[in-house]
Amino acid sequence: MGKTRIALLGFGTVGTGVWNILSTSKGEIEANIGEEIEIAKILVKNIGKRRRVEVPPGILTTDFEEILKDTSIKVIVEVIGGMEPTLDYIKMALESGRHVVTANKLLISKFGSEILRLAAENSVNLRYEASVCGGIPLINVIKESLSVERINEVAGILNGTTNYILSKMTDEGCSFETALAEAQAKGFAEADPTSDVEGFDALYKLRILSKLVFGVETNEDLIFREGITNITKDDISHAKELGYKIKLLAAAKRSMDKIVLRVAPTLVPEKHFLAGVGDCFNAVFLKGAAVGELIFYGKGAGELPTGSAVVSDIVGILRNKSTGQKDRKSTVDISCQTTEWSKSKYFVRFSMNNKTYDIQKLISVFESGNSRVSKMLKVEEAAKTSNVLLIISEADTLELRKALAKLEATFESVKGLRVLRVEDFEAEEFNPQILDAGNL
Ligand code: NDP
Ligand code: HSE
Repeated sequence: MGKTRIALLGFGTVGTGVWNILSTSKGEIEANIGEEIEIAKILVKNIGKRRRVEVPPGILTTDFEEILKDTSIKVIVEVIGGMEPTLDYIKMALESGRHVVTANKLLISKFGSEILRLAAENSVNLRYEASVCGGIPLINVIKESLSVERINEVAGILNGTTNYILSKMTDEGCSFETALAEAQAKGFAEADPTSDVEGFDALYKLRILSKLVFGVETNEDLIFREGITNITKDDISHAKELGYKIKLLAAAKRSMDKIVLRVAPTLVPEKHFLAGVGDCFNAVFLKGAAVGELIFYGKGAGELPTGSAVVSDIVGILRNKSTGQKDRKSTVDISCQTTEWSKSKYFVRFSMNNKTYDIQKLISVFESGNSRVSKMLKVEEAAKTSNVLLIISEADTLELRKALAKLEATFESVKGLRVLRVEDFEAEEFNPQILDAGNL
């Protein structure tokens, strides 16, 4: 039996997961690839740090050159995160003829094409299954099993930290801060959790998925992105009153030769399977022309789920060293369209003085072009004021902005205006529901 020596760059949550899986499943993995596998070196930042697992003396290093110079190392696994110094390390690893596995979505989203080209030029593999939705096998399934499927839509919950926070706020009434601290303690959150809570992490993953399913690079500046830091308990409870849950949804839809991408806190119907995806779980929904709808569900973060995806890439490379995986290329010109012009359903909430409340006048503010009020609910808050909750069908961003300006101009008592997107996932017939008609 031969031996393959590999190096880990990083020994935090994911690196430790990889170490643990390679230790506990050593026999099975080696039987699968037909050779021994050994972690020869591990690059860390702080060599004196207390580790959760014990490693043989001399394995840990802070010197990347030491790894690069050791020509017996054939696979380099990058689980440090961020752009620096990881991009340089990955490039040096590929240029020196090493296969690379990474879990780094930031890097793949921004430099994926460049480093995949570098891998091809050096006849080595670069795999990144763990970069999107941790333990859910997605990238290799899209690349291989769905390689000829025309996919028109991909949407889902791509970030475990924000799903954990929203689930805790919704189900247990937890505060944002407490839930975030728990996600950090559990190892789901990024080193800087701004990337999670402001939607950047989900955006990187959505870009990676879009490149895979549509075969085109998308312009990051044209992708609408909104995080969950402004979501309040009131938003959550009012969404519930209309039969929805709030999720950080990342979605990319193709329509003819255009794709529209967005990451935003979104109301999804309580009965839809995405509403039931709780904790740090992720779920992805794909719509293919031939295969129809597919759903992928599992743990999108954490030591062992993410470690599992990294190890599967290592095994994939060692089983099939010579062939790199080819990326899909679109045969038509597809461009990324700004969300300004894309139609969406919206949830609008505000409070107003009961004396000025006039249902017909309110509805008419929002109805123009194809926009209609499809649901409306008035919730008495105090003797004088009420919360008004509306679902608006089919408005584009500009139409909606105009309607909101008109609302404030028409009703002086309107306060606390909140707007969120709604995704019902299927074309719904226009079926207005004035839920509190009896009280008006
Ligand atoms: P951690 O912060 O837990 O670990 C980072 C590791 O990298 C640490 O061991 C740290 O060293 C080391 N490191 C940091 N900077 C340097 C440097 N300049 N030189 C050498 N080593 C360095 O990160 P995670 O394990 O959580 O994440 C790693 C990657 O995996 C990221 O790209 C992340 O986005 C991705 N990922 C993470 C998931 C998760 O659930 N955590 C899920 C999916 C992907 P030291 O230990 O000495 O501090
Ligand atoms: N911080 C990321 C998340 C890790 O919470 O989903 C997995 O990519």
